Amino acid sequence: MRKELTILLILISAFMVIGCTGYDSGDQEPVPENGGEAQPNAAELYEQITQEDNYKEWGIWPGFVELSEGKDIHGELITIYVSDNAFTAIEDKEDVMPDGSIIVKEGYNPDEELERVLVMYKVKDYDPENNDWFWALYSPQGEVTTEGKVAGCIDCHSANEDNDYLFTGDLS
Ligand code: HEC
Repeated sequence: MRKELTILLILISAFMVIGCTGYDSGDQEPVPENGGEAQPNAAELYEQITQEDNYKEWGIWPGFVELSEGKDIHGELITIYVSDNAFTAIEDKEDVMPDGSIIVKEGYNPDEELERVLVMYKVKDYDPENNDWFWALYSPQGEVTTEGKVAGCIDCHSANEDNDYLFTGDLS
């Protein structure tokens, strides 16, 4: 009996301690590993720009048209869509694109068949050494080919470091 009483007391005090620290076993969000910044994910990004906020409804890079002639690196014919905040940054010559900017470039062959989709997505504090761009390459069906701080993309685009890693347009 005494033993049971002791156990009961221990249990009661344990509950009190838990209660006092205000621990709520329910809906607490786990803290992300990188300290709170959302870690971009190419598959989720594709969902976002095709389902939630279809990039085909965004503006085309000011001064360009659909199926412009590209330099034949990402396709002979290209269409570059930009999110609203990126569009404004280009028009206002803001030097660098604001966080959350998304640039979607479609690469087509000369028969106007889509061959690949390339995305640059600016994420706050994601890659400060390279202007915080998240890079992603997709198949025409939206399968992820490569994503992240992709060295191949960065190496070539860093030729335009003073234009926010962008080949198209002039931000300043
Ligand atoms: C060998 C150089 C090279 C590499 C590697 C490269 N790009 Fe590009 N990229 C270009 C050029 C040149 C343009 C300008 C448009 C055109 O002529 O196709 C461009 C344009 C773009 C654009 C439109 C915005 C802009 O800068 O004009 C996006 C988005 C893009 N590239 C994404 C990527 C991604 C993602 C990768 C890696 C998977 C990548 N690029 C790798 C050369 C490169």
